[in-house]
Amino acid sequence: MADAIGNKKAHEYHLDVPAPAEGFFVKGNNGAGWGMKNRLARMFRRESGNTVMLAFDHGYIMGPTSGLERIDVVIPPLAPWVDVLMGTKGALSSCISPTVTAGKCLRVTYDTTVLFEDLSAGGGIVCDIENAIRMNADCMAVQTFIGAAGEARSLELLARVSDAGSRYGIPTLGVVAVGKEMERTEKFFLLATRVLAENGANVVKSYYCDGFERVAAACPVPIVIAGGKKLPEREALEMAYRAISEGARGVDMGRNIFQSDSPVGMAQAIGKVVHEGYTAAQAYEVYEEVKNSEGNTGR
Ligand code: 5RP
Repeated sequence: MADAIGNKKAHEYHLDVPAPAEGFFVKGNNGAGWGMKNRLARMFRRESGNTVMLAFDHGYIMGPTSGLERIDVVIPPLAPWVDVLMGTKGALSSCISPTVTAGKCLRVTYDTTVLFEDLSAGGGIVCDIENAIRMNADCMAVQTFIGAAGEARSLELLARVSDAGSRYGIPTLGVVAVGKEMERTEKFFLLATRVLAENGANVVKSYYCDGFERVAAACPVPIVIAGGKKLPEREALEMAYRAISEGARGVDMGRNIFQSDSPVGMAQAIGKVVHEGYTAAQAYEVYEEVKNSEGNTGR
């Protein structure tokens, strides 16, 4: 029983202060439970409502991608500059210190490797909900193949993961895949992002496209954009700026950060666009400043 000695005598119930009625700041997730909201708030910053996610899960189908030959060397220095690390259970547990404070988005599905003709040909769950909980995941990522052979299978996986996530309070990130043959039009992304949200994704990862404003508006949960192939830094910042201006709630970028001449400079510059409203030109200055200072320290 609590010790009553020394307790304040007068109780203050603040009868004149109404309980906060504010909705949750992450779009479409107001109905989620406290645990899921808490995890979403670890991914999305309250002040900007946005997130910088760093994707380094490429090896799950591609093996050692250029720039990611040594995850243990390349990724840890970037962690302080991003909100979320997105990787596989193998990469996170073998290459990232458990003391990391960034959020963790765990890729929980596997797919066929690039040696197969059709990337959507097979796949399943590689990390179940118990393992995701054990790894203290803030989010679970599921690859989906809308308009491709693996569409039905990947939607089934999305539904299973999001059901398990709802049970235990872990949000699901639905990832829109774009194969070589697949169109990258507003029409396609309108359909794909909406299908993922309606089938249980709490957040959707998709690509920037012409007409993105309408894609973001029609998707009932936040969209974070993928970076895609490496672009010149200025162009990647321009794409991030346009996406944020048109309704994206963040980026989930890989190659445009870790393949940059200055990955730390690029991570910081992207953060300025995503969280502080910098234009691409302003953010590029940040990138150059960091890159030059690394040169001066002989890095
Ligand atoms: C593939 C993914 C990857 O994580 C993502 O595309 C990699 O990031 P980037 O394209 O920016 O290198 O989700 O669908």
